[in-house]
Amino acid sequence: MSKTHLWWQAGVVYQIYPRSFQDSDGDGVGDLRGIIGRLDYLGWLGVDAIWISPIYTSPMADFGYDVADYTGVDPTFGTMGDFDALLEAAHARGLRVLLDLVPNHTSDEHPWFVEARASRQSAYRDWYIWRDPAPDGGPPNNWLSYFGGPAWSFDEATGQYYLHLFDPKQPDLNWRNPDVRAAIYDVMRFWLRKGVDGFRIDVIWMLIKHPDLPDNPPELTWTPDQKPHYRLKHVYDQHQPEVHEVIREIRAVANEFDERVLIGEIYMPVEDLVAYYGPQLDEVHLPFNFNLVTLKEWGAVAVREVVESYERALPDGGWPNWVLGNHDQPRIASRVGHPLARLAQMLLLTLRGTPTMYYGDEIGMEDVPIPPERVVDPEGLRSPGHGRDPERAPMQWDGELGAGFTTGEPWLPLADDYALRNMAAQRENPRSMLSLTRHLLELRRMAPALCVGDYASVDTGDHHVFAYLRTSGPQRLLVALNFGAVPAQLDLSAVGTRGTVAGCTYMDHSGPVELAALELRPHEGLVVALE
Ligand code: NOJ
Repeated sequence: MSKTHLWWQAGVVYQIYPRSFQDSDGDGVGDLRGIIGRLDYLGWLGVDAIWISPIYTSPMADFGYDVADYTGVDPTFGTMGDFDALLEAAHARGLRVLLDLVPNHTSDEHPWFVEARASRQSAYRDWYIWRDPAPDGGPPNNWLSYFGGPAWSFDEATGQYYLHLFDPKQPDLNWRNPDVRAAIYDVMRFWLRKGVDGFRIDVIWMLIKHPDLPDNPPELTWTPDQKPHYRLKHVYDQHQPEVHEVIREIRAVANEFDERVLIGEIYMPVEDLVAYYGPQLDEVHLPFNFNLVTLKEWGAVAVREVVESYERALPDGGWPNWVLGNHDQPRIASRVGHPLARLAQMLLLTLRGTPTMYYGDEIGMEDVPIPPERVVDPEGLRSPGHGRDPERAPMQWDGELGAGFTTGEPWLPLADDYALRNMAAQRENPRSMLSLTRHLLELRRMAPALCVGDYASVDTGDHHVFAYLRTSGPQRLLVALNFGAVPAQLDLSAVGTRGTVAGCTYMDHSGPVELAALELRPHEGLVVALE
């Protein structure tokens, strides 16, 4: 690892959705002890940090993104003692641990909200966003919840509506109230003092709403196959100018501690996204870049455009990052198919910037079809067909009953293919997706050009092939990715004469190549160390 770069710049982040990673007590839900038992695997795989989706006390209306106690561990996942043991065991292996901070909303069962809804005079009333009904008795404006239905629920007892951009059981906090800010900053300090290495921050771009809460305008291009909330443009409920001041405060709290990282969840085109680095690089260290997640057409031209527009938009000193999947999005293998998922993995692990990998993608897990009676995601329940359960299915560890995930009944169905597609089987297979992922991670670790080097696109003359150079001092690596279903013959003599294959998506090719006649099989990606 580079000495001139920070750990979160040179390292690779692995996202664990804790309900689905490893169950240790047979209740069918993953837990902290389960994660501890898999740390050796993560060390073997070669990632540098884990980000764990919420583990806090929660009624689980949104599986932990509805927090009832920010400094407690939900019994589903274990105890604070288990968390401390996990942190210690991870650090002992050189693995950093990031938690998920959920500051936009609490659970409606959080004592703050219980207190707030007790009366209009409650000291906590203004911690949330309350409004009188519209003259017709309906909600105060037309905002829609991201999960479907209105973003307002009526509180009978006090006669006002409260705002919830997500589930009615997730009331939005009022970030214009300084007491709310102070309370969440103390939550951050609590975990940072314990030694967590940073946070992924949930929907950070939504923390501040327009002060007048105006109606959102209609999105005229909306079609019924899209999620219902896209019927409106999200003009006033997110991405408000004042949010940056708040994020700078959040950053200042992280800065009280050494070498911690803040990763902001922000779905946005690169031109707007980069504002979240802050004018003095004083907001989040890494505004999550989801532009490969939201990309519809996976082809060389489109991917190159995503990469180049991002490189152009980045502010001086702003460190890039890349994501292929998470617990809210269909899995990469289901979006693009397995051959291209291998190519995507090579892309993720050879681009400039910190990669975040979603658990299970290293073995090419697919979305698991969920029968209607097994749907549990609040979004799936409110907006049928748009649920996120498929990408949250249990990790496929081995071919045994329960896939090595649980000895009980898993909370979500296991994939049909788990007996074939699982970690144990792929570990034995030198050409598997897992072997490819591990190899790429090792290559990245060993080659400064890959983990911290410069980036430059290479013209390939073939619209199916995206190629780029990664360089650091004398080290020059060429990455060539054939997105096409046909072989490619390239003349890349402009970048060099000869090289040695250091990585191949099919895991069956090493040895010398001539750049004047570089051949790529269909969907093949190569990393070539140039002479
Ligand atoms: C984004 C999280 O990733 C998602 O899972 C959650 O439902 C919403 N924020 C609300 O917290």
